[in-house]
Amino acid sequence: MSKVLRTPVEITYQAELDALKADQGPKPENWQLTPKAVVTYLMGGQAADGTEISAKYIGNRRLIETAVATLATDRALLLLGVPGTAKSWVSEHLAAAISGSSSAVIQCTAGTDENQIRYGWNYAQLLAKGPSREALVPTPLFRAMEQGTLCRLEELTRMGSDVQDTLITVLSEKMLPVPELDDVVYATRGFNVIATANNRDKGVNELSSALKRRFNVVVLPLPDDMDEEIAIVERRVAEMGNSLELPVPANAKAEIEKVVTMFRELRSGQTLDGNMALKTPSGNLSTAEAIAVMVGSLSQANWFSDGQLQAEDVSHNLLGAIVKDPVQDKAVLEEYLETVLKKRPDFAPYYHALNEVL
Ligand SMILES: Nc1ncnc2c1ncn2[C@@H]1O[C@H](COP(=O)(O)OP(=O)(O)O)[C@@H](O)[C@H]1O
Ligand SMILES: [Mg+2]
Repeated sequence: MSKVLRTPVEITYQAELDALKADQGPKPENWQLTPKAVVTYLMGGQAADGTEISAKYIGNRRLIETAVATLATDRALLLLGVPGTAKSWVSEHLAAAISGSSSAVIQCTAGTDENQIRYGWNYAQLLAKGPSREALVPTPLFRAMEQGTLCRLEELTRMGSDVQDTLITVLSEKMLPVPELDDVVYATRGFNVIATANNRDKGVNELSSALKRRFNVVVLPLPDDMDEEIAIVERRVAEMGNSLELPVPANAKAEIEKVVTMFRELRSGQTLDGNMALKTPSGNLSTAEAIAVMVGSLSQANWFSDGQLQAEDVSHNLLGAIVKDPVQDKAVLEEYLETVLKKRPDFAPYYHALNEVL
């Protein structure tokens, strides 16, 4: 097994990507796969040679078709949604499928400046040689333009609006001037940008309308169907358990169902049957958070219990996910325990274990 903690998806799913390459239909220039094959790679199905393709994204196929179709145009793609709706995950897989590499990525923060978007300078080279191509340090965006590949911008709205607007020339004119060298980099065909942004965070910098116009927005929703959400958690927990070499006990599915039930009820502010209104905690109880709770619990069960997944193992992790604000969220959880879980016999272990840690 490789020593890398997390291999890029194009390595993990190399066999699937190779199988899909055999699909010889027309494709946009510099794409590794046809747009249909890219959608099959994300949604799962079968390659032309019969190879099974696992589903990476579970949800509406149309959304992924729109995302892929957008990347074949001159508009960039913006994946929008609350945290944990697989925006980064989808963007990583899209880049792997379309460009063969998911590693051209810029994490945008409040501290990101223009040099991290356009290009920087190697100062030793700059002093030795003056402004020259050798002294220029290309960013992932710069390289993607030269190579005709996709560049990912994570959390686009976290960087300042002025820095965001650096992208306007790149996205509308498909070029990047380098005035220091009296030069211009023209984007090669196949270049495009996939940005992600979440619409829940405070302190984000709204996109200027000029920049917004350059993006086609695809909103990734939280799964509205309970079975779908359970399926997502189950699949990802199995995959992550596998890569962390954590055995997944037989009762994992039953516990996942319970955790997803609690998450959905607290998130929506009502019981699943809709009969009782509940207060909602401040944290974001997304599918991704449910996955994290289950993986944490698996680790705890594996190293400290007999390997069976007990409510005790899950409860500590659940508490961390639900109670982000020690006062308010604690009260919300207490009320949920007393008014809902206490009356459900199958949740008794959780009622007791959560009460103990609360
Ligand atoms: N609809 C979905 N289909 C497949 N995986 C999902 C889905 N929703 C969430 N996930 C899982 O949630 C995890 C976190 O997603 P991530 O891309 O980091 O979220 P975001 O960037 O939207 O905050 C990933 O492991 C992903 O597999
Ligand atoms: Mg993300």
